[in-house]
Amino acid sequence: MATDRRGAGSVVEAYWLILGRAPTALELDDELRGHLNQSPGALLRGLLSSPEFDRLRTAWQAGRPAHADDDALERGLLALGPDDAFVRRAYDWILGRPADAAGAAHYARRLAEGERRANVVRALVLSNEFTRRWRSVPRDSQLCELANPAKWDNDEWLAILRSLGLSDEKLLMHRKPYEFAQLIYGCRRLGALREDSVVLSVGAGHELVLYWLANHARRVVATDMYEGVWQAVQGREGDPDVLRRPEQYAPFAYRQEALDFMKMDGRQLAFRPGSFDIAYSLSSIEHFGGVDGAAATIRDMGRVLKAGGILALATEYVLAGPPHEETFQPSEIAALVGQPGLELVEPIDDQVFRRYPVTPVDLYREPYQTPHMVVRFNDTVFTTVMIFLRKT
Ligand SMILES: C[S@@+](CC[C@H](N)C(=O)[O-])C[C@H]1O[C@@H](n2cnc3c(N)ncnc32)[C@H](O)[C@@H]1O
Repeated sequence: MATDRRGAGSVVEAYWLILGRAPTALELDDELRGHLNQSPGALLRGLLSSPEFDRLRTAWQAGRPAHADDDALERGLLALGPDDAFVRRAYDWILGRPADAAGAAHYARRLAEGERRANVVRALVLSNEFTRRWRSVPRDSQLCELANPAKWDNDEWLAILRSLGLSDEKLLMHRKPYEFAQLIYGCRRLGALREDSVVLSVGAGHELVLYWLANHARRVVATDMYEGVWQAVQGREGDPDVLRRPEQYAPFAYRQEALDFMKMDGRQLAFRPGSFDIAYSLSSIEHFGGVDGAAATIRDMGRVLKAGGILALATEYVLAGPPHEETFQPSEIAALVGQPGLELVEPIDDQVFRRYPVTPVDLYREPYQTPHMVVRFNDTVFTTVMIFLRKT
């Protein structure tokens, strides 16, 4: 397949044929580094599932100009080689198959008559064959990543979001539903979430996903300090009342016998080694006493996991700006995931917002604004990072 060829020339060719432009230096670097192009087909899937390609295709469908500079586009496409090679490469990248003799001859003739190469690309993109192919392209399907807007274009992932009773409306895109759906998506993909699984949540509060998990795993144990400021602030996540009346917080009917709430410090878990198939923590470890508190928690979560079990974390990741209380810089995240006996299931995709730029929500001025995927406290811009580690 075309995407197995990972040289710079191949990346440039794919960008011109799919997006009608050259890759930026950063994109080229990213693709060659293997971050985006980490498996066969990933480069192509990334381009075809991008909002940028979506905009181009929509413009062509509506008969509107899709590119700002048609002459620059034509020059870029002309640089891809002689006509017959260009047609072959266009079929390969756009339709995912070799050009048939009739199609190759047809387009070669049109080009010889003076047709622009951009019109050949447009004809292939607007064909029924391509439309069928495009619909089946899964959106960014990686597990370890920054909170990813593209997941709202992934049908498998959206089905999970809906099963949680949450809206799939893109305007309401928010890090919290992302964490819940991504946790389930990842644990399923990694084979850790099964009917017989035993699951631990650390810093659980009364999060919605606990109740969903109680309906899909054998046993779920929710642990939290349930004390201090968390009893009163924001969503009152640390409300100790849930210890007495868990059903009062349930968003839907659930298997009550499968879910236990326990008061416990995440840094010192009162469980025997090897007790759980999954140990996870969402938006909590950044509140456990800086890097040291978070690292102690990850180590103890690892201790109580079975061999081969999955440790899933969502925490705050600084994209730009100075350190801020209860957020982690990328270097701190790298140190946190480097605990002995635990292994990242894949590299963390930290380039999400280079591909899908968003405006950060100012948490001091408009805390409830959505989409709510990247946020800021003054100059510190941050988002959620989702991490999956396997106990070795
Ligand atoms: C932002 S809330 C997140 C709650 C929940 N995971 C969610 O996503 O809704 C952080 C939680 O961490 C809990 N917490 C703080 N320090 C803790 C510790 N050392 N051990 C366990 N839980 C702690 C708080 O009580 C609070 O419920």
